[in-house]
Amino acid sequence: MIVLGVETSCDETAVAIVKDGKTILSDVVYTQINIHEKYGGVVPEVASRKHVQKFISVFDEALKRANLTPKDIDLVAVTTHPGLIGSLLVGINAARAFALCHKIKCIDINHLTGHIYANYIESDFEFPVMALVVSGGHTELILMEKHYDFKILGQTLDDAIGEAYDKVGRVMGLSYPAGVKVDNLAFTGKHSYKLPLVYLDKNDYNFSFSGIKSAVLNVINQAKMKNEDIIVEDLACSFQESVVQVLVDKTINAAKEYNVKHIIMAGGVAANKGLRKSMSEAVAALEGVKLTYPSLKYCTDNAVMIAVSGYFKEKLNA
Ligand code: KG4
Ligand code: ZN
Repeated sequence: MIVLGVETSCDETAVAIVKDGKTILSDVVYTQINIHEKYGGVVPEVASRKHVQKFISVFDEALKRANLTPKDIDLVAVTTHPGLIGSLLVGINAARAFALCHKIKCIDINHLTGHIYANYIESDFEFPVMALVVSGGHTELILMEKHYDFKILGQTLDDAIGEAYDKVGRVMGLSYPAGVKVDNLAFTGKHSYKLPLVYLDKNDYNFSFSGIKSAVLNVINQAKMKNEDIIVEDLACSFQESVVQVLVDKTINAAKEYNVKHIIMAGGVAANKGLRKSMSEAVAALEGVKLTYPSLKYCTDNAVMIAVSGYFKEKLNA
C-alpha cells in the first residue's frame, strides 16, 4: 500500500510517500521556523498563508522524489486535528482535492497518533506499549494494547512541556523555538536552583508545568530586583532536570502498572538529550522493556509519521 501523507498542523508544510508503513519513498518538509522566530512564537495567520504559498511545491517535490505519479498512490492520509485551524485547513483541502480528482481514498489522521507512529519507522511495536507524547502542544501518557488502539491515561492540565520549554527559554532571552537551546545550555550547567516538582496526585498520570514555568520567572525577576546575575546554564539545568524527573517517574510508574513491553517517546521534546538519557537509564532498570524514540528529524513535525499512521488505520479499518 503506497500512502501519501500530508501534515500542515502548525509551522511545517510536509508531504511524504511511504510504502507499507515502513519504506520511505519521499519525505519533504518545509519549515517556517525562521519566519516565526522574530515574533517569539508561531503566528497562526502567517503560518496559514505560508502553507498556502508552499504547499504545491512541497507536494510536487514529494511525488518527484518518489518518482511516482498520482495513479501510483493507494491512499491519502492527512492531519485533521489537533492543530492551528487555518494551517490544518490548507493541508486538508489540498489533500482532499487531490484525492477527489484522482479517485483515491482520503482518511483523517490525529497528529498525536502520527507522533507515536514516528517510532514505527525505525522500530516495530511490542505490545502493550506505553507512549509518552511530549510536543509543543501536548503532554500525554497513552497506553496501546494493539495497533491503532489508544487509551489516554493522563495529560497536562495546563501548559504542554514543549510550550513550557519555549516560554522558559524566552524569559532567558533565547529565540523561538527555545527547547533545543535550553537543552544544550542545561548540559553546560549544574542543578543549583531549587524548582518545584509537580506530581499532582501521586497515583494519577496527569501533568502540570505552569508552576515550574512561573518559578523560573520568579527566579529571574527576583534576581533583577536585587541586581544579581542569573547563571543561565544552571537555571536551564535545574529546569530540565526537574521536568525530566517528573516525565520519567510518571512514565515508569505507568509502565509498571500496565506491565508494558515497550516504552515510546514521541513529539518534539522526545529530541531532548536530558530526557533521552534519564529515560534510557530508568528503562534499563526494568527487565524486558524496550525503549524507542524517533531519530531527531522524525521527532518534530513531518508527514512520514502521518503516512505510517494512515497505513495502520486503513489496514486495521480503525
Ligand atoms: O512535536 P512538535 O514539532 O510540535 C507540536 O506538535 O507541538 O514539537 C515542537 C516542540 C517545541 O516546543 C520545541 O521547543 C520542542 O518541541 N523541542 C524541544 C527540543 N527540540 C524540540 N524541547 C526540549 N528539548 C529539545 N531538544
Ligand atoms: Zn507535532
